[in-house]
Amino acid sequence: MRVLVTGGAGFIGSHTVLALLEAGHEPVIGDNFANSSPKVLERLEQIAGQPVTCHEVDLTDVAATDALVADVKPDAVIHFAGYKAVGESVEKPLMYYTNNLDSTFAVLAAMTEHGVEKFVFSSSATVYGPDAPLPYHEEYEPLRATNPYGWTKAMIEQIVTDVAAASPGFKAALLRYFNPIGAHESGLIGEDPSGTPNNLMPYIAQVAVGRREKLGVFGDDYDTKDGTGERDYIHVVDLAAGHVAALDHLDTMSESARAFNLGTGQGTSVFELLHAFERACGKELPYEVGPRRAGDLPVTYADPTRAREELGWKAEKTIDDMCVDTWRWQSANPNGFGG
Ligand code: WQD
Repeated sequence: MRVLVTGGAGFIGSHTVLALLEAGHEPVIGDNFANSSPKVLERLEQIAGQPVTCHEVDLTDVAATDALVADVKPDAVIHFAGYKAVGESVEKPLMYYTNNLDSTFAVLAAMTEHGVEKFVFSSSATVYGPDAPLPYHEEYEPLRATNPYGWTKAMIEQIVTDVAAASPGFKAALLRYFNPIGAHESGLIGEDPSGTPNNLMPYIAQVAVGRREKLGVFGDDYDTKDGTGERDYIHVVDLAAGHVAALDHLDTMSESARAFNLGTGQGTSVFELLHAFERACGKELPYEVGPRRAGDLPVTYADPTRAREELGWKAEKTIDDMCVDTWRWQSANPNGFGG
């Protein structure tokens, strides 16, 4: 299938482009590089050994997005494009609602106009909110995010569900990511957050490569295995494979829209991840325990049953794989794509 991958130059999008190519699909990227580097395109072509098509486009521009879909004529769309920093979304809610929702409206309108009926959406486990029982299950209601970023994901899930229900033949998979980390085994692409990393793994990696002095551990007094927060980390290559599995499942899916957790079902603590990274990079990494971060939950992890039973997909890679692959990427690219 020819697949329009919006946000395909980003961390998860770029890894999914590779997985699509390996599966014999024809990915076409649509990205404005707001949160990614054009350099990733040459890296993708280096890994894939073939050209990768990318259209630079502002997906909040309705006419430009319609023209893109009319030009590409995709069989399906995988929609990654969107802002995704929780803290920034609290400071700039209107920017997040406008960008994430307007781009989705434009993509869905273009799909409807041009008869594109397969949609895979990049959602997030943040839609479960603070009250959902563990492990998180897709049937849980009500979805209740705790920040504007998470609310955009919950709102878009509802929008897509309603559009799919009203459009005979339209099928949508809503993929709820847990904590994506790791990098392609080539070390040529990986996570490259701009500015100070909000997330744990890129921060640890930047300490290891000498860009940051030490890791700040956000609290060690949680009721968890070692007092630090536990998360369901999933290798980005496993996550990418989950997108291909979901895409291939749409034709046989009886529901018009359906959510799937993409996680491992295992929780890993901050200290466990830190020590795994020390094994990967072969050195002790400095850290300092500080106060909890506002809004953090003690533990989150997935019930991955539905994806296994319905998509025939499960995460295979270990925490050590995630650390080894991240270190290969970060040590070869200390400044990410910035060179
Ligand atoms: C993980 C753990 C922190 C940084 C975020 C987004 C979520 C999703 C995944 C998009 C927690 C601790 C972190 C640090 C630390 N992204 N930590 N020191 O918060 O689970 O989820 O990424 O969908 O939307 O919110 O991930 O990596 O920020 O934190 O101690 O410098 O590491 O307290 O326990 P989180 P995270």
